[in-house]
Amino acid sequence: MKFINPYVFAVATLLMVSCSSKKETLSLKDAYKNDFYIGTALSADQIQGKNTKEDSLIKKEFNAITAENIMKSMFVHPQKDKYNFTLADKYVAYGEKNKMFIHGHTLIWHSQLAPWMEKIKDSTEMKAFMKDHITTIVSKYKGRIGSWDVVNEALNEDGTLRKSVFLNTLGEQYLVDAFKLAAKADPKVDLYYNDYNIEDPAKRAGAIALIKKIKAAGGKVDGVGIQGHWRLASPSIEEIEKSILEYSALGIKVAFTELDITVLPNPWDLKGADVNQNFEGSEKMNPYPKALPDSIQNKLAERYASIFKLFLKHKDKISRVTFWGVHDGQSWLNDWPIKGRTNYPLPFDAQLKHKKAYDSILQLKAKKE
Ligand code: G3I
Repeated sequence: MKFINPYVFAVATLLMVSCSSKKETLSLKDAYKNDFYIGTALSADQIQGKNTKEDSLIKKEFNAITAENIMKSMFVHPQKDKYNFTLADKYVAYGEKNKMFIHGHTLIWHSQLAPWMEKIKDSTEMKAFMKDHITTIVSKYKGRIGSWDVVNEALNEDGTLRKSVFLNTLGEQYLVDAFKLAAKADPKVDLYYNDYNIEDPAKRAGAIALIKKIKAAGGKVDGVGIQGHWRLASPSIEEIEKSILEYSALGIKVAFTELDITVLPNPWDLKGADVNQNFEGSEKMNPYPKALPDSIQNKLAERYASIFKLFLKHKDKISRVTFWGVHDGQSWLNDWPIKGRTNYPLPFDAQLKHKKAYDSILQLKAKKE
């Protein structure tokens, strides 16, 4: 038997323990606690803590939450005279219990509307709907929810206004009305305009014009939500930076509200998240059904690192960075724009293990401190 020096043994053990316990305490929310909130989007099951492993991961890594679906109008307001707050109540209670920043998503959106809302044809009925919908929901969670996406995705790619049921019945005034109603229901809550691809120049110009108009008409806009459904090579860091600077020059907060990065081929070179489009796929379009090759894993890590490096540079302007989902297995990108693919857009894989992307995001802070 070899002789082991007890002193060397003790020091080595101590080092191992301290290294592993240091690793244990590392988390995204702790690393970025002096910079901005690190959020995630929760599914209905996650809100109810159905999977214990996911639940511990959420509590360990994130200090802000968004409900991925259950606060959308079709779920909370399924019929004209009926609201269903069962899951929304659980969501808010979850955030409070875990001392997280709670974001409300979303009040006025053309998608995921209840069927009765889509049938609204005239301005009187639409005005009544908006007043009832916004006032009821925002008042209910007054003082408990920190910020709301008041209007979601009101713009076309060229920066013009989307011909939604709201625009068609009320004209542009619906944007101002929505922000005024929300501010009246909870004067202290932060109110956001949230959209995808609004870092692209044309759509960004549209979003800036829209926010200016709402403010000029007396609406309270506290922030812009850049969704951040991005790709490995685009948008460029330069365009993201210009966006941070231009939006923040309006005197509002900038949040990255739905961050994820697709690694899969996109047949129609679709950008962002127009959820109305769905396409059948082929095996060629689903190249990594079992695992992500190291080369792409590294690219994803580098992409996240350059994005977070930029976020840190402008941390004084950024309120929150929220990933759109806790782990890859849950991501909407497995089903869009082609159903049934295997995508890898988040820092945690489907087994809840952290990826190189996670390490690269943490690494930025390690270098600084
Ligand atoms: O509720 C039904 C359920 O009853 C049914 O059993 C199940 C069968 O597939 O479908 C359920 O509905 C799904 C819904 O999510 C709730 O889970 C829809 O099929 C599915 O299309 C829907 O997708 C959501 C999408 O918004 C809808 O527009 C995604 O989960 C959600 O991640 C996505 O999130 C949006 C943001 O809210 C706004 N910005 C873009 C972003 C990505 O599209």
